[in-house]
Order: sequence, then C-alpha cells, then structure tokens
Amino acid sequence: MAVVAAAAGSAVGLGNIWRFPYELGQYGGAAFLILYVLFVVLLGAPIMLSEFAIGRLGQSDASGSFRKIDPRGKWWLIGVMGVVSAFLIMGFYSVVSGWTFEYIYQAFTNQFAGKDATTLASNFTEFSSDTVRPLLWTVIFMIIAASIILLGVKDGIERSTKFLMPLLLVIIIALGIRSVTLPGGIDGLRFLFQPDFSKINSSVILSAMGQAFFSLSLGMGCMITYGSYISKKNKLGHTVAEVTLLDTLVAVLAAVAIFPAAFSQGINPGQGPELVFITLPNVFSNLPGGQFWAILFFILLSVAALTSIISLMEVVVAYVTEEFKLKRVPATIGVVLAVLVFSTLSSLSFGVWREVHVFGMTFFDLFDNVTSKVLMPLGGLFIALFAGWVMPAKLLKREISNEGRLKLRFFNFYLMLIRYVAPLGILLVLLNQLGLGKWLGV
Ligand code: TRP
Repeated sequence: MAVVAAAAGSAVGLGNIWRFPYELGQYGGAAFLILYVLFVVLLGAPIMLSEFAIGRLGQSDASGSFRKIDPRGKWWLIGVMGVVSAFLIMGFYSVVSGWTFEYIYQAFTNQFAGKDATTLASNFTEFSSDTVRPLLWTVIFMIIAASIILLGVKDGIERSTKFLMPLLLVIIIALGIRSVTLPGGIDGLRFLFQPDFSKINSSVILSAMGQAFFSLSLGMGCMITYGSYISKKNKLGHTVAEVTLLDTLVAVLAAVAIFPAAFSQGINPGQGPELVFITLPNVFSNLPGGQFWAILFFILLSVAALTSIISLMEVVVAYVTEEFKLKRVPATIGVVLAVLVFSTLSSLSFGVWREVHVFGMTFFDLFDNVTSKVLMPLGGLFIALFAGWVMPAKLLKREISNEGRLKLRFFNFYLMLIRYVAPLGILLVLLNQLGLGKWLGV
C-alpha cells in the first residue's frame, strides 16, 4: 500500500500545481487541456502500466530491469538515459521547490496581505533574481530530501502522503471556490474550458504531450524503479487508474484555482513560471483567514514537491547503488552535490545569467524543455516498444494479471496502445515539431 502512495506522491507535485497551469496559460487554455487529457489516457496510462510491469518483473533499477528481462539487448540504455533525465529534471525542480520554501516563509511573516498583483509580481522577480537567497532554499530542500532517503523515513513520508494529499485537495478546492467567485473570474473558467482549436499547433501538441509525461513521472524509469518495489499481489491496472485520475484531478483543480483569479486580477495567463506564485498569494490576501491558508498551502506544496524529488533521486541512487555497487550514503551525497551544479545554473537563469542562452534558452528552460519535450518522450517511445514488441505478450500478460489470477478486460486494448498508438503517436508529435510533418505529408 505504501508503494501506491509513493507512486501518487511521485506523480502529484509541482508538475500539477506549478507547471501545468503555466503551460496551459502559455499554450492556449482549453485546447491544451483537451490535448493533455488525450495524451494522459492514450499514452500516459499505458506507459505507466508498462513501466510498473517492467520494474516488477525485472526486480531491479531503471536500467537493470531491462537487462533482467532481455539480457542480450541494448535496452538497458533507456535506463541510462533516464538517469541523465533525472539529473536535469532535479536541476530545475529543486529550484522551484526552493521557491516554495521562500513562500512558506513569506506566508508566515504575512507578506502577501494587502498587496496587489503588480506588487506581488515584482516581489517575486526581486526574490527569484537574487543570487544567493533562492539557492539557499534549494540547498536546504535538497538536504531534507537526501536525509529522508538516507534515514529511511520514506515509509513515514509515504504514509503521511495518504493524509496530506487529501488535505492538499481540500485547500485547492477551497481556493477554487474563492477564485471562481471573484469578479470577472468567469473569464478564467472560459479560458480553461472553452476550447479555441485555432490555437493548436505543433508546439502546443508537443507541450501537452511533454506535460503528460512530466506530470505522471514517466519516460525515465521512475515508475520502473517504484514498480520493482510493488508487491506481487498489487493490481497494477488499478494502481495506474488511481494514480492517473488523482494526478489529473489535482492539475485541473489547480487550474480552476488559478485562472479565474488571474483573469480577475488582470494577470496575463501566459506569464510563465511565476504564474502560481503571483496569482495565489493574491487570492490568499482576499480570503478570510488568508494567512493561515497560505501557510498551509505552501507547506503542502513543498511536501508534494518533496515526495516527487525523492522519487527522482531514488532513480539515480538505485541505479548507482545497484549497477556500481556503491553504498547508499556516498551515492546520495554524490547525487545531491551533482544536482546542485545544475540547480545553480537554473537558479541564476532568473538573475545574473538571464542573458546566458544555450540553443536560444536559459539553463532553466533548457533543462525543462530537453527533458519533457525530448528525453522523456523518447524514453516513453522505447519503453512502449520494449513492452509491446520485445517482451513476449504472454509474459507481459502474466505480470499484469498476477500470474493469471486477475481477469483482464482491457489487455488487448492496452497491447494495441503500446504497440501502435503510443510509438506512432510520439514519433509523429516529435517529427511534426521538427517540421518534418509537412515534408512527410502528415
Ligand atoms: N511528476 C512530478 C510532478 O508532477 C515530477 C516528477 C517526479 C517527475 N518524478 C518524475 C517528472 C520523473 C518526470 C519524471 O511534479
């Protein structure tokens, strides 16, 4: 049971409450939402099931599990790619996690009260462009995450997720109600639910797909690693359904809390990464007992970020301890130090290195885009190919049906999704973005 909570803890995080709304805001609202849900159902859920099955059958880390199932193939390289992705993701995720700590602090010291959107926005810029302060929070955050991994209190964290996650949901719903009832809030709901299909283009499609991978923690071996810890009695299909539904619910509710408020306050929905950090503080400052809600919200958000980053760290720590026979303590410390190099690059992207561009992007955007728009879709593509074509269908069925004890109603549909729909879909989205779509006439 704790492992299911861990998988949900991995999936639900900043991806839902920070990244989903800001991507949706930048990529056209409701049309993005529809694409996102399609990707979650057609690619996300079947790939998650495949990752769980590979991990539970292989009983090893993100790379070793492939080798156990197919000792002669080169599929273990997917796991190596996953480890690279994990570093890059942690490189920017740790920075945003650090921001949540700053906001807990600001909530405690009641710094949102009576401020309008413009002031809150400039406060955010002032903070995030600082050289030292955001990085200090990031370091503190990483030390806490590493201590949890090392002290083995993960079980405690996983059990507490079961209690904290519903609480997070309650707060988001309360915020949503407040937000929708603000003057002009209805425009935000329209933006969120009334699709304008003319806004769809190749980069909107790719972003929606990337967000599906990111939010569900897919395409880099995270769910393979967790799958290897799942009990043989667990009904994998049910777990996938629960995690996927919960993850999507949290994302949509976060958007319901954010967009009406943003429209009501005249905040541009396409603001970017700061969207949640300037919109919600304003809602809190208008809520009865606002300070209390703000503190609680940012604490829960940082806990959600913590359970997610722990899953990322776990991928790398499991990989280096199992593949290189390293001890857990030096492995974890090494990982944290390496990640902090990436974190520094990401954090300074908002300040002194704002103008430093690689492939036309700041380091922060580079790490974010390379992982969710390139590495994770590629990882997902290979995972689908492995589960669909390399693993014998009988073996896959045996694993998912718990040695034939469960009746699987959707197995053939699932097989069709991972054999054809997912690989072709991912390939087309990637080619389409490269402009090859036109060239190929699709
Ligand atoms: N899914 C998490 C979120 O939405 C982030 C995350 C955790 C992740 N583990 C991952 C993303 C593995 C990609 C891959 O916040």
